[in-house]
Amino acid sequence: MQICMLGSGLIGTFYAMSLQGYRSCDRVTVVYSRTLESAQAFADKWSAEFATDDINEAVNYSNVDAVIIGLPNHLHEQAVMAAIAAGKPILCTKPLGRNAEEALRMLQAVEKAGVFHAYLEDLVYTPKTLKALESVKDGAIGQVLWVRSRETHPGPHSDWFWNKECAGGGAIIDMGCHCIEICRNFIGKDIRPVEAICWADTQVHPIEVEDHAIGMVRYENGAIGQFEVSWAFRGGMDLRDEVSGTEGTIWLNHWMRTGMEMFSAGGKSGYVAEKSEASQGWLFPVGDEPGALGYRDMFADVLSALENHMQPRESFYDGYVVNAIMDAAYTSISSKKWEPIELREWRGRESVEKISAHRDHDDNHWLIKEEQMPDGSRKLILKNKATGEVTQTVSAS
Ligand SMILES: NC(=O)c1ccc[n+]([C@@H]2O[C@H](COP(=O)([O-])OP(=O)(O)OC[C@H]3O[C@@H](n4cnc5c(N)ncnc54)[C@H](O)[C@@H]3O)[C@@H](O)[C@H]2O)c1
Repeated sequence: MQICMLGSGLIGTFYAMSLQGYRSCDRVTVVYSRTLESAQAFADKWSAEFATDDINEAVNYSNVDAVIIGLPNHLHEQAVMAAIAAGKPILCTKPLGRNAEEALRMLQAVEKAGVFHAYLEDLVYTPKTLKALESVKDGAIGQVLWVRSRETHPGPHSDWFWNKECAGGGAIIDMGCHCIEICRNFIGKDIRPVEAICWADTQVHPIEVEDHAIGMVRYENGAIGQFEVSWAFRGGMDLRDEVSGTEGTIWLNHWMRTGMEMFSAGGKSGYVAEKSEASQGWLFPVGDEPGALGYRDMFADVLSALENHMQPRESFYDGYVVNAIMDAAYTSISSKKWEPIELREWRGRESVEKISAHRDHDDNHWLIKEEQMPDGSRKLILKNKATGEVTQTVSAS
């Protein structure tokens, strides 16, 4: 596919590495950036045909099959509208909007125009996440009760992230969006997120927005999605997910402790991995960064969906739901209460029952717990179905 890349910064670079890596037939053909110099530098690096500092010129360039938006958050809507006017399929990075209202306008616009749209949430495509999602789907851990997703690092790499007007918020809008969508994928995207509660603070940096936040999202079936984000974390980028189910557990560590550990006394290692704070001493490089972050599988899915007239895994609708959850989290920071998640469009299941995994022991009892004790005995803790009485039996091994 011939790609029009809007933005030549960090994400534009990761996207180009993924699209043009290996023997891929996809090419960045045209690139837009704020200055012609940076657009041209990107075009030279990736052998793009054309560089421009005019968005409209970029999206209307001949032979463009799809437009990728990798611009600061406040420019997403304008870029979506320009791509719609050019009649091009649109792939937009995260977060879709700075708030749900903006995201809904973009969703409605692409659907009204009937153009293909994808929400580029790479972290639901990491090889580990895809494997874990498949295992959950196959029932390996039973019903998902609690997903904890964490993204923390010492803070973003460009000025606009730290500006409330441009970004729409701080660590939550920047990284909470990843964590929330990871949780939705494990809990079930068809299960309605009902309410959210969140603590946030500006602990370290001289900025208006939050640099640290912890939030919880309650889903209609009782499952909890927990996000933990920080721009105040030291030591690199910590990307971890935990999934707890009625029958099992999955722990995922995507960065830093991925199995590769290197010691460099000389400190001549240069770039080690995204957001790494060290280039000397013990280091945690990542072998294939675009692969480990999910970009390769993401573009394989999205561009194949586009070619085959199918839906990608993540659409603008998902981006809208994530924005609505973040809006509720932001409201909760000041109210200090659970806040309802307002979804003007809900396309999932209605009236879903609460998760229940009661296990029968016999006709009269539920099994609460069974445990092998250190002295070799075996304990059974039971609840009488009729009276509610909780009792235990201890049997010798
Ligand atoms: N994992 C991910 O999916 C991921 C990772 C990083 C960034 N992002 C998203 O990608 C988008 C861009 O982030 P980035 O890290 O590439 O940013 P960046 O600062 O590295 O690059 C921004 C690009 O936008 C261009 N630009 C055009 N107008 C601009 C303006 N008014 N102000 C600043 N830049 C302007 C710049 O020239 C540059 O090419 C954001 O929406 C961000 O949230 C996604």
